[in-house]
Amino acid sequence: MDENSTLSPAHSDAAASSCANALPLPSVPDALAPFAGLWRGEGEGAYPTIDEFAYTEEIEFSPTGKPFLAYRSRTWEVGSGRPLHSESGYLRLVAEDEAELVVAQPTGFAEIHRGQIREGIIELSMVSLCASPDAKPVHSIRRQLSVRGGDLTYDLWMAHDLTPLTHHLHGHLRRD
Ligand code: HEM
Repeated sequence: MDENSTLSPAHSDAAASSCANALPLPSVPDALAPFAGLWRGEGEGAYPTIDEFAYTEEIEFSPTGKPFLAYRSRTWEVGSGRPLHSESGYLRLVAEDEAELVVAQPTGFAEIHRGQIREGIIELSMVSLCASPDAKPVHSIRRQLSVRGGDLTYDLWMAHDLTPLTHHLHGHLRRD
């Protein structure tokens, strides 16, 4: 008698169903694979109309098993730990080497950017910016995102009110 034959039918059913529930890890499209994961680091912000500031940041690009990664960023003020900006959305593969970043901000903006992925760098161009009636007067946003090995860096420029497209953020995070 083999050892499994000592299990009651109920026990062997439970064992079979727990194996069936062990889902495989979601797959990630090759071109998006360098971005997938949890990243932690810091950033600096500036703009002609405000004081410079420093922040810590956590970014997650989570595999979903579909041709996109779920995106989430949270930031905190250095020193006080006070929550600053956060945003979330998706990094979608729209062609073999082309990605689209869809982002929603709690400050009342929804953005769509697209760009070619070349060796882990996505130079994004804004496709669309929607603003809530009470959002600040932001006219355009430019983003760049790059991954080299275990380092993720990004830059963000914006045109706000009377200021033309000007650098606002630089972030540098490491794979957790
Ligand atoms: C890492 C993410 C970000 C951080 C840590 C951050 C932080 C800040 C801080 C500390 C200020 C100055 C205080 C304030 O007005 O609240 C500020 C101003 C501002 N930020 Fe950001 N920000 C981030 C991302 C963004 C993004 C994605 C946008 C795009 C719409 C944006 C748009 C603005 C605007 C319009 C202002 C006001 C500028 C002014 O009043 O002249 N920020 N940001």
